[in-house]
Amino acid sequence: MKIFENGRPSPDHPAGRPAGRPAAVDLRGAALYPGYLGADEQGALVDDLRGVVAAAPLFAPVTPWGRPMSVRMTSAGRYGWVTDRRGYRYADRHPDGGDWPPIPDSVLAIWRDLVGTDRLPDCCLVNFYADGARMGLHQDRDETDFSWPVLSVSLGDDARFRIGGTERGGKTASTWLHSGDVLILGGAARLAYHGIDRIAPGSSTLLPKGGRINLTLRVVD
Ligand code: SIN
Ligand code: MN
Repeated sequence: MKIFENGRPSPDHPAGRPAGRPAAVDLRGAALYPGYLGADEQGALVDDLRGVVAAAPLFAPVTPWGRPMSVRMTSAGRYGWVTDRRGYRYADRHPDGGDWPPIPDSVLAIWRDLVGTDRLPDCCLVNFYADGARMGLHQDRDETDFSWPVLSVSLGDDARFRIGGTERGGKTASTWLHSGDVLILGGAARLAYHGIDRIAPGSSTLLPKGGRINLTLRVVD
């Protein structure tokens, strides 16, 4: 049984609402779990992500059209998501030629709780937003099977998140994502356009030097 049976988290799914966790709020078909992770859990995730970044350093990606992106990124898992002049794609190696480190168990635990254990994600994309970084509206569509959701974790400074429908140029809604929030793009919202308008510098003390980390977990193939 998958959590998204009818485009929405099923309250009957054993993984849909873990005990003691907040319930999902609907955000144009996406499921937002505000404050899903407590302060200690967020700190433990950041510690584990330090290990990921030590093994697979953040790099400055470039779009296929040659425009530098404002986020810096890396990945953990069987695949990493990369972009350069050759296009958007999943790659089995870091651009510097090294292996991607495994996805930390602290990260996989969130997927297990909210999506289930039938299948674990192949990729954890790590995006780092310094002050002024943003992400334009886009779809996550480089994966093979869109019946698996994309699960996103916010850590650090608040971010203004924007979500539309599955067509470019349609109506959008926006909300602030805070540190510890988890968002699931699944069901009818799996291919929704989404992006980050801006972050609010200094709104969180989680990261000693400020900024925001976003993790997205994806089943790739
Ligand atoms: C993304 O869509 O890859 C990132 C979304 C976010 O930063 O919250
Ligand atoms: Mn995305």
